[in-house]
Amino acid sequence: MDRSGPRRAAVRLEHVSAPPDLPDLVVRALRMSLERGYVQASRSETGRLLATLAATRSGTIAECGTGCGVGAAWLRSGAPKTTRVITAELDPGLAHGVMTMFAGDDIDVMHADWGSLREHAPFSLIFLDASSAREWPREEIVALLDDGGMIVLDDFTPCPSWPPLVRGRVDTLRLEWLSDERFTSVDVMVAEDTSVLVAVRR
Ligand SMILES: C[S@@+](CC[C@H](N)C(=O)[O-])C[C@H]1O[C@@H](n2cnc3c(N)ncnc32)[C@H](O)[C@@H]1O
Repeated sequence: MDRSGPRRAAVRLEHVSAPPDLPDLVVRALRMSLERGYVQASRSETGRLLATLAATRSGTIAECGTGCGVGAAWLRSGAPKTTRVITAELDPGLAHGVMTMFAGDDIDVMHADWGSLREHAPFSLIFLDASSAREWPREEIVALLDDGGMIVLDDFTPCPSWPPLVRGRVDTLRLEWLSDERFTSVDVMVAEDTSVLVAVRR
């Protein structure tokens, strides 16, 4: 199999100033992404934001959709040692691969639908990608958050207009999160082609 495409896609150059060294956990997860040709991994600009936000969190951080563990690795790298990091992945091969890779790294990996994360709520931070968030009723996500809890949604295309547009139509997901008065929120452009929405429950 020609793996040159996935390899190029998984290791992207960063668009912001950052030290070149990545946390060891992240390097291992990126290596697994390369080996499996997994191209949906969080990019490093997003990862650095995740680690920084995780550093402010106590309690439990949840990730919906583990993939090859890149997001979880950034979250674990930034979070205080006493903060739990839990991640759920539907694909058995990915979930069990990440479980093995992170055995002993204080990351709880579940082979489960992300709905199963409910048992471990409330969360101080929930991380999921925008496509997944479009399929999950927003109020169900809100119900899982602790007071002062934070939601982080990645994989948006930056858009300067209001209301936000995606492919010429109103981006209702972004619109709803950004105008929800229960939250203070911002759409952060982490690279010229990617933005991440952060919303904190007041
Ligand atoms: C965009 S990728 C996640 C990337 C990962 N968060 C990261 O930071 O690298 C989305 C992942 O969600 C998984 N997924 C899709 N539906 C799911 C569900 N209902 N429950 C759990 N995981 C799911 C997919 O298999 C895929 O690996």
